[in-house]
Amino acid sequence: MMRTHTRPTFGTLFSQHGGYVSDKWMQFLAIYERELGAAVEQGQSICLLEIGVQNGGSLELWHEYLPTGSRVIGIDVDERCRQLVFPEGVEVLIADAGDQREVDRLLAGTLLDFIIDDGSHKPKDIIGAFLNLFPKLADGGKYIIEDLHASYWASHGGGLRKSGSSIEFLKSIVDCLHVDYYGDSNRDENAGKIDEDEMNLLKKLNTDISCIKFYDSIVVIEKYIVPKISRFQRIVSGSQMPITNPYGLAEAVIDNPHDFTFFGRSWDVIAEAALISAVQKMARETKRADDLAKQVAELRAEQNARGAATGSIQEMTTKQVAAPAADQAGSAQRGTDSPVTEDGFSEDEKQIFLALEMEHEELPKSNPKTPGIEVQE
Ligand SMILES: C[S@@+](CC[C@H](N)C(=O)[O-])C[C@H]1O[C@@H](n2cnc3c(N)ncnc32)[C@H](O)[C@@H]1O
Repeated sequence: MMRTHTRPTFGTLFSQHGGYVSDKWMQFLAIYERELGAAVEQGQSICLLEIGVQNGGSLELWHEYLPTGSRVIGIDVDERCRQLVFPEGVEVLIADAGDQREVDRLLAGTLLDFIIDDGSHKPKDIIGAFLNLFPKLADGGKYIIEDLHASYWASHGGGLRKSGSSIEFLKSIVDCLHVDYYGDSNRDENAGKIDEDEMNLLKKLNTDISCIKFYDSIVVIEKYIVPKISRFQRIVSGSQMPITNPYGLAEAVIDNPHDFTFFGRSWDVIAEAALISAVQKMARETKRADDLAKQVAELRAEQNARGAATGSIQEMTTKQVAAPAADQAGSAQRGTDSPVTEDGFSEDEKQIFLALEMEHEELPKSNPKTPGIEVQE
């Protein structure tokens, strides 16, 4: 959807900029417009802090872009940045953004609507600055980190999937969004484990961060407009479930009643349908139990009949063993390949008994030594 602006966009201002030099990647212009445009449009004053002043071009641009009365703060480790001259509403602080004590001192009582990290682009500085400055972000504010491509460069302590790189840190904090779901009954026992400090950080961030957006070389970490004080609920509206069984949903409600909020008559309807479904299930289960009982009774009768006929099974088995042995050559071979044990049966014969599922006690006590069969003693 095309939007028409009555004010110049960040891209327009950048392309027409005269003063101090600013050096950015082209995709950033549209990203900044998208992420800051709505706040700028509202026309209320904004407080923006940028890590990395250098020649001062971006501070000038922010001053031009933000509504009148806004405050732009630049922070840089480079003392020379003190020499830069800016219009009223723009100030430069000389400090390492990773130095918590200094940052706390310089920014005491300041709430920031936007923080932009365009500093060293090295993991230690990015992570340190984030941990120091994110708490200073106002509700609904955005923490933006530029030039994330550097986290794939060895020169900047990065590399693809390199542990400790800034992009891996940022990927890892994505897990803060889902802290409420790690401990539930659906947990995979093979899931990775993290140490207590990391877990505490994720839990803290969970109450603050509403979303994390990754663009080409930029990440935007957004703070909740109202801090999150408890886990989100499942909400249900509507009154018909033509495809899924309401019983499953009712079970989930019974297990975790505080996780749900129902709108309108949805809970009445679902609970009633679940009740009917439960009754039907019980009826089916009763029928299944009856069927099972019948099957067990039949099996038992069959087994009893088999037990009574043990003698005939013995006879039959003996015949089976004897049959191939009636052949002289066969019996000779049997004698050599399959030695006969104490009870007069060879191992082959015992295998046959086993195959017939006869219990050990049911084995014929000894080989009847059918005439014509040679048995090696
Ligand atoms: C890429 S430049 C900033 C460019 C500027 N934002 C612009 O667009 O015109 C990076 C600046 O970050 C500063 N810097 C590096 N590490 C820093 C840190 N830990 N804290 C504050 N500034 C830092 C450097 O001195 C350098 O001036």
